Amino acid sequence: MNILRRGRLSAEPDEDIERFTSSMEADRRLFDADIEVDRAHVIMLREQDIINASDCAAILCGLEKIKAEGISALDTSYEDVHIALEARLIEMVGEDTGGRMHSARSRNDEVATCIRLALRAELMALMEEVHDLVASLIGTASKHHDTIMPGYTHTQHAQPTTLAHNLLAHSTAFVRDIERLNGAYGRTNLNPLGAAAFASTGFPIDRKRTTELLGFEGMLRNSMDAVSTRDFMIESMSCFSNLMTSLSRMAEELILWSTTEFDLIELDDSYSSTSSIMPQKKNPDIAELMRAKTGTVNGALMSVLTICKALPYSYNRDLQEATPHLWRSADAVRSSVRMAHGMISTMKVKKENMKLSSEKGFMTATELADTIVRTTGIPFRTAHHIVGAVARTGKIPSLRDLDAISMKLIHEKLSARGLSEKDIIEALDPAANINKRAVTGGPAPKETKRQVMALAKKLGSIAGDIRLMRKKVNAAAEELENACKNVLQV
Ligand code: ARG
Repeated sequence: MNILRRGRLSAEPDEDIERFTSSMEADRRLFDADIEVDRAHVIMLREQDIINASDCAAILCGLEKIKAEGISALDTSYEDVHIALEARLIEMVGEDTGGRMHSARSRNDEVATCIRLALRAELMALMEEVHDLVASLIGTASKHHDTIMPGYTHTQHAQPTTLAHNLLAHSTAFVRDIERLNGAYGRTNLNPLGAAAFASTGFPIDRKRTTELLGFEGMLRNSMDAVSTRDFMIESMSCFSNLMTSLSRMAEELILWSTTEFDLIELDDSYSSTSSIMPQKKNPDIAELMRAKTGTVNGALMSVLTICKALPYSYNRDLQEATPHLWRSADAVRSSVRMAHGMISTMKVKKENMKLSSEKGFMTATELADTIVRTTGIPFRTAHHIVGAVARTGKIPSLRDLDAISMKLIHEKLSARGLSEKDIIEALDPAANINKRAVTGGPAPKETKRQVMALAKKLGSIAGDIRLMRKKVNAAAEELENACKNVLQV
């Protein structure tokens, strides 16, 4: 007999209705968290004298066994893990004891607490993996301060840069992704337990104690807010979307750069597939799937936003439908970060091709215009006009070419205003272009070396933050463990 339905309802749902209603499948992600929440709640109930010592011990003992049996021992005809777990407990220890666990609690605060605990662990692990990705990116960047390559805008040759500069650009974006995840972590790591259905409870519970035992940084103070909101999910998922966008842009470059047309890198065979018909093919499927999973993650975010939109307060079953999207996007983003890390650390850089490609497309035109400004004192817009007109001829200009065009456009020779052949040669040299761009954030090796150091330092402080988070969570887990042990010894 279903412990939940037996009172109010007389008809049982058929299998089709059960499948429609159940969250059991997605709740696999909540099983461990649910046991922790049950334990913390029961310890608090005992400390507040809401249940007696022997019931408390028997419940904790039962929870221990349920944990060992695993989720597969639960009755899947129940609509979610919370009630199935309670039913299993009652089956083990009897209703007079097991039936007391859910005092002063609702599944509404219970599920919100479980999701926050499980998501908290996901966010920590994700931050660690993005940290490792950035470490690998700056490691590769360190080997390529002098690896000249074309820089693009509109996918057209634009200005020469270095591979280090490109990898550091991505690294900088990923560091912001970590910072955003950190913000989401802070707002996820808050305790809704004690809100009960929404109106809290008349039992003398101690919300601070469960907050402490579950290692939350604080509690959600308004009980109606606590069970109603999924903004922490939306926030985390929008961080995932932002991160996937960063990843997809890097993936896209890896795909482009491995084409015959670009031919700047070769991805490792383990991150490549081949064709079932064309024996010569080496395809960047992993990077393509990373690009595609961005769509999955964005779709999941849109689903949760749409599910929550205009939902009246407080709890509605609609909220159950949001949770699987969270796990789907969390899995997609974490695996993508790992794939990116693997691809970057194993790819082969074709330095010679990068250099050759940098000599094409008159990418030094900007520096030539700048040099004209510096040597002749004419306005930048005029220099841009002259160099643009020269570029139209498709020829890398000599001083004579420039003089001819400037005569036409401004009725003066640039050489007469101080431009020399030597100035032009230097302006047209990609390496000299790069070395000149030594302002903060520029591609000059001196500056990219500084950027590597700064990012490495930043990574060190991020690693410290994550270690502290883990330490706090582990300390709380230990406190909960000890509290349980104390009860069981008495
Ligand atoms: N499985 C539900 C969920 O994920 C748990 C809460 C159910 N609460 C309720 N009042 N039916 O949201």
